Amino acid sequence: MSVARSDALVLFGATGDLARRKLFPALHALVRSGTLRVPVIGVARSGWSVDEFRRHVSGSLREHGVAAHDAAADTLLSSLRYVDGDYRDDETHRRLRVALQDAQHPLYYLAVPPSLFTSVVDGLEAAGGAAGARVVVEKPFGRDLASAQALNRALHRGFPEDAVFRIDHYLGKEAVQNLLYFRFTNAFLEPVWNRNYVQSIQITMAEEIGVEGRGRFYEEVGALRDVVQNHMLHVLAHLTMEPPAGAGADALRDEKSKVFRSIRPLAADDLVRGQYDGYRAEPGVDPASTVDTFVALRIFLDSWRWADVPIFIRAGKRLAATATEVLVALKRPPQAVFGPAAVSPPNYFRFRLGPDRVAVAIGASTKHAGTSMAGEAIELSVCNDRTPEMTAYERLIGDALTGDPTLFAREDGVEAAWRIVDPVLHLPLAVHPYPAGSWGPPAADAIAAHAGGWHCPVRG
Ligand code: BG6
Repeated sequence: MSVARSDALVLFGATGDLARRKLFPALHALVRSGTLRVPVIGVARSGWSVDEFRRHVSGSLREHGVAAHDAAADTLLSSLRYVDGDYRDDETHRRLRVALQDAQHPLYYLAVPPSLFTSVVDGLEAAGGAAGARVVVEKPFGRDLASAQALNRALHRGFPEDAVFRIDHYLGKEAVQNLLYFRFTNAFLEPVWNRNYVQSIQITMAEEIGVEGRGRFYEEVGALRDVVQNHMLHVLAHLTMEPPAGAGADALRDEKSKVFRSIRPLAADDLVRGQYDGYRAEPGVDPASTVDTFVALRIFLDSWRWADVPIFIRAGKRLAATATEVLVALKRPPQAVFGPAAVSPPNYFRFRLGPDRVAVAIGASTKHAGTSMAGEAIELSVCNDRTPEMTAYERLIGDALTGDPTLFAREDGVEAAWRIVDPVLHLPLAVHPYPAGSWGPPAADAIAAHAGGWHCPVRG
């Protein structure tokens, strides 16, 4: 059984990109809120000293707007320790044991490329470091179903399931949690939230940025593994799951696993892959790469509530906007009471999930003033422009430190999600080029054509 509070945080991949961009700012915020009061031990093979590591962390905090001599930054910097070495070398793990001093319940955070997860976990187990500890594993969790199952087996040799925290930062986002909150606290939604009223569901995750120096990582994953198997499927689960039977982490995760199990495994013609022009010239990328930087797919969810409702997911880099948005379109009323000229667009619910702001909008129609029964489409919307109180990483690392698994993927859920994408991962599917700043390759239009085409979120 997992213990109550972690008494050290060990960061594998401490000199890497994720740590600098997301994790150190999150640790700083956790120190400031009083949630993180334990030593932080960086592990990497950069050949650094602890002072160099400290300067690196301090640089990351400055890049994120933390002032010099900020009290929380000083506390975090003074709590840092550093172990240099290869993750596959037993000696590194022995030195880590020494650096942990008397900590009994460390939290290990694996911010390393997926190909190194098993080596790190095996090293921890062999050095006796797994007992009483928890482990946070970054996504993508494996490369396909078989490797995810192998990774689960490797983890379970030393860590019981309740000590494994599979992180997906989308689950820490306010707007993604709001999908659940909005659905299950508003009585008006439930009667229409099913195949009788919903015409189609679309999720778009568009980014203007390219791979931004992460070419080598991206070559191992591609868009389907990077954001669809995890982020997008969790968003879809929040939109389509049944209400959890009671409180608690497992009630919620049971329902999400049921959604994943109800989704039909993808077939070749459910998917269009794309690659932005210029990707092959990015550092770390194979000049003949066929890795996808864009995917558009059609999902079939075989459940009582959603059978036959068209569901589409689209995600890509170097697209025309940076926006993650859900559009749930409702069916039209049965008759055009005011004549064919007055037929208005279907009602819809639009959920803006990012960047940063949370917005919910309902598309409706209202009458123009005057004698004719003609009108216009309007949106009733609420928008929270405030920067969220916590970043997703701050929320999730805080939860892992206290042992709350609610917002982490469970073994069965992660394997069920792989089962959906697994059949197409190894197929030699065409990869269509697309220009930067577009909405992806024209071939993707066919995926959503019969449901009225893709909804393109606006910028900003
Ligand atoms: C990460 C992916 O998980 O999510 C990145 O690896 C992607 O490729 C990022 O850019 C997007 O996250 P966010 O929070 O900026 O929407």
